[in-house]
Amino acid sequence: MVTVRVPAKVNVQLGVGGVRPDGYHDLANVFFAVALGDQVTATPGPGVTLSCSGPDADAVPLDDSNLAARAARLLAAHHGLADPGVHLHIDKAIPVAGGMAGGSADGAAALLACDALWGLDTPFATLLDLAADLGSDVPFALLGGVALGRGRGELLEPLPVSGTFHWVFAVADGGLSTPAVYRECDRLREEAGLGSSAADIPDPDADPALLAALADGDPVALAAALANDLQAAAVSLRPALADTLHAGTEAGALAALVSGSGPTCAFLAKDADAAAQLAAALRASGTCRTAHATHGPVPGAQVVHTSA
Ligand code: C5P
Repeated sequence: MVTVRVPAKVNVQLGVGGVRPDGYHDLANVFFAVALGDQVTATPGPGVTLSCSGPDADAVPLDDSNLAARAARLLAAHHGLADPGVHLHIDKAIPVAGGMAGGSADGAAALLACDALWGLDTPFATLLDLAADLGSDVPFALLGGVALGRGRGELLEPLPVSGTFHWVFAVADGGLSTPAVYRECDRLREEAGLGSSAADIPDPDADPALLAALADGDPVALAAALANDLQAAAVSLRPALADTLHAGTEAGALAALVSGSGPTCAFLAKDADAAAQLAAALRASGTCRTAHATHGPVPGAQVVHTSA
C-alpha cells in the first residue's frame, strides 16, 4: 500500500494569451502550491478501480474520466504492463471543479503512487512528461513550490520564494467548467473588439513585481500584484462571485482573486491569525459554502506512507 499527499494550486498570476490553432491558450501562469490537498492511496487490485471519501466525494467521477485512473493506465502503458492492477482511494479535500487543479492533483498523485506500488522507479523527468499528456496543470502538482508555467502551462520553471504566505479559499456551491471559462474569456475579448486569437492578443509575460514579491516573501507586495486574466470570465458566468470577493476584502483580506478558472475565490492574509479570522468571516458572510485557511508554498506530490 502506498499513500501520496498532493497539494492544490492557486495561480498568483494567470496571464492568458490568444487562442491557438490547437484550441489552447499560451499562458504566463505563476502556480503556487498550498497545503490544502488530497491524499491518494494505491493498493494492489485487479484492473484499475477508484473510490473516494470526503465531503464532496459524490461529485467525483469514479470511471475512466477521472485523471487518477487515466494516470494509472498511462503509466502502465508506458512500461508495457499488460494487466495493471491497482485500487486508488482518493481522500478529497480540494474543491471539485473549483479552479484549484484538484483533478490534476489526483492524476499526479496516482502517477507517483502507482510508480511506487509497481516498483517502476520511473525518472522524475519522464513522470513530468506523462503528467503533461494528462493535462496542463498535472506537471505542477508533481513539482509543487512556486513555478512559472509557459506554453499551455506545462513548461515549468521553478521560481525562488521566501517564507510562508497565508491564504483563505472560499468554496462555491457547484463547479465551473475550465473550457467554458476559457471560451467566455475569448467571447469577452471579442465583445470588447480586441479579437481573441494568438495574433490579436499580445503574449503574456510574468510580472517582475510579482516575482520580486515572491522572492522577498512580502505578502503586501504580492497582494498588489495578484492578477488573473480569467477572473472577468468566471465572474461573468457566475456573477455571485463578485459578492464573495467583496466579502473577503471587507473582512480585511490583503487581496482577493478568483482561483484559476474558478469558482473558488482566493484571499491573501497577512499572517496565520488573520487567515483564521478571515475564513470565519467568510463562512459567516453567506457568500460561499465554506472557507478554508491554509498556507504555502508546499512541495509537490510526495509518498507519505508505504506498507507491505
Ligand atoms: O489541459 P487540460 O485538459 O487541463 O485543459 C482543459 C481545457 O482548458 C482545454 O481543453 C482548453 O479548453 C482549456 N485550456 C486552454 N488553455 C490552456 C489550458 C487549458 O484553453 N493553457
